[in-house]
Amino acid sequence: MSDPLLLIETLGAVRRITIDRPEKLNALNRATLEALHRAFAEAAEDTAVRVVILTGAGDKAFVAGADIAELAGLSPIEARATSRLGQQLMTRIEQLGKPVLAQVNGYCLGGGMELAMACHLRVASEKARFGQPEVQLGLIPGFGGTQRLLRLAGRGAALELCLTGQQIDAQRAWQLGLVNRVVAPEALATETLALAEQLAGLAPQALRGVLDAVLTGGESALATGLEFETQAFAVAFSTADMREGTTAFLERRKPSFTGR
Ligand code: COA
Repeated sequence: MSDPLLLIETLGAVRRITIDRPEKLNALNRATLEALHRAFAEAAEDTAVRVVILTGAGDKAFVAGADIAELAGLSPIEARATSRLGQQLMTRIEQLGKPVLAQVNGYCLGGGMELAMACHLRVASEKARFGQPEVQLGLIPGFGGTQRLLRLAGRGAALELCLTGQQIDAQRAWQLGLVNRVVAPEALATETLALAEQLAGLAPQALRGVLDAVLTGGESALATGLEFETQAFAVAFSTADMREGTTAFLERRKPSFTGR
């Protein structure tokens, strides 16, 4: 599969999707949003893909936001459709059913931060910079930023970042719980791939159960989340991978998961 706005690589069981618009700091225009929709739909369907990495081309930016040149001319009706298109992409990523890792190599602003927050884990370069600068344009985040930042880092951080539009560095983002790991720029690709390969070696149905339980629990009362966890726990016992994982432990050998 190829798309002029994306570079799509298959690295064993890992699918790496690179937004390839470095001359515009990988800004999300409509065509890029649509290309990402297609790429993630394809990654979801392909059972050979166990983990997805999302990154941006070049060494300057992950994604510097929604494309301001396009936003500038939108009517309110078109703006609503753009927000929906962006939000639907973020939801598609969040609900992919397999882990998605954001490899944040530089500016991660506006729609870029919203994209990174829709991913399940974020690995950032020490040079990465984060922010929701929309207020500085007279806008507000429209691809889920106000909601996911609130859920990821709490009301204080969400209000601070969205109200001021200020950028923060990777270390501060780590302190706020916005990123999982901060690594040297030259180690970013290898560290992210190593983490992806580690996850790709695990039982996919177990990973799916964790994703479903955590995402569902984040939006429910504790009792509802606990019940969901119980059901997902029971479902794991129907998989060959669960038999393999427990048997391998008891036989003191490495498990070999097949995805069944
Ligand atoms: N939308 C459209 N184009 C963008 C963009 C965006 N969000 N971010 C960067 N670009 C474009 C610039 O217009 C420029 O294009 P040009 O060379 O054709 O003029 C190119 O990418 C390089 O960006 P530039 O601003 O020259 O780089 P810089 O190193 O001076 O500054 C940033 C980098 C990230 C600080 C700056 O580009 C910026 O503030 N971008 C907008 C961030 C933002 O507000 N995002 C939220 C959007 S809702």
